[in-house]
Amino acid sequence: MVSTQGRKRLVIGNWKMHGSLGANAALLCAVADGAKGLPETGVAVCAPFPYLAQCRELLAGSPVAWGAQDVSAHLQGAYTGEVAAPMLAEFGCGYVLVGHSERRAYHGETDALVVAKAARVLEAGLTPVICMGETLAQREAGETEAVVGAQLDVALDLLHADQLAKVMLAYEPVWAIGTGKTATSEQAQAVHAFLRGRVDARNAAAAKTMPILYGGSVKPGNAAELFAMQDIDGGLIGGASLAAADFLVICGA
Ligand code: 13P
Repeated sequence: MVSTQGRKRLVIGNWKMHGSLGANAALLCAVADGAKGLPETGVAVCAPFPYLAQCRELLAGSPVAWGAQDVSAHLQGAYTGEVAAPMLAEFGCGYVLVGHSERRAYHGETDALVVAKAARVLEAGLTPVICMGETLAQREAGETEAVVGAQLDVALDLLHADQLAKVMLAYEPVWAIGTGKTATSEQAQAVHAFLRGRVDARNAAAAKTMPILYGGSVKPGNAAELFAMQDIDGGLIGGASLAAADFLVICGA
């Protein structure tokens, strides 16, 4: 599960708001089975909250971890509809996505809220995957580094050094999500190297070990090229994580 650079290699499926008990059972069993043949890569799925129980049951004893797609920034209290990090921990989750661009766009999540969520995840002993990325307009305006740099800086400012060492990042250009338009491996590598350099400027130890995943239209046909890049430590996979065969090819890449 470790790259030549000594970093954890991981492929996470983000099911988004897809699934049903029947379809999930087939998908989880196939992924659990296929992942046994992939000892080099960590494999995880992030399912909608109601299906976490099913993930726990069907993935028990398998090499596949599971996680949630969001979490509350609060620990407990009168927050109707929210789910707290200690609840996810009690349940056996390993990972929690925070700050996915769909949460930022449709739920107005700010950088500060995203980092508060990451802090709750860390306090609960789980691994947050902090997602960041630029829109097409921002890329075309030459603002990619300014945008992702600002998103990252809030995490660098608010998390302690020992917390940073336990964080994963996911670079997901908004224009590549669900569009079939992936960043080229060079475009993705450039942003990953920029992010790692920015972490390095504050915390060299964390920069060396921090996995940075790429997400945005990763498919069986482009995964190997992306994952071969020096600073790309794996992927966060949307659409292709819903088909076991495709997901397993990506995990094997
Ligand atoms: P797609 O792989 O469907 O483009 O989604 C990427 C994503 O948003 C993963 O979090």
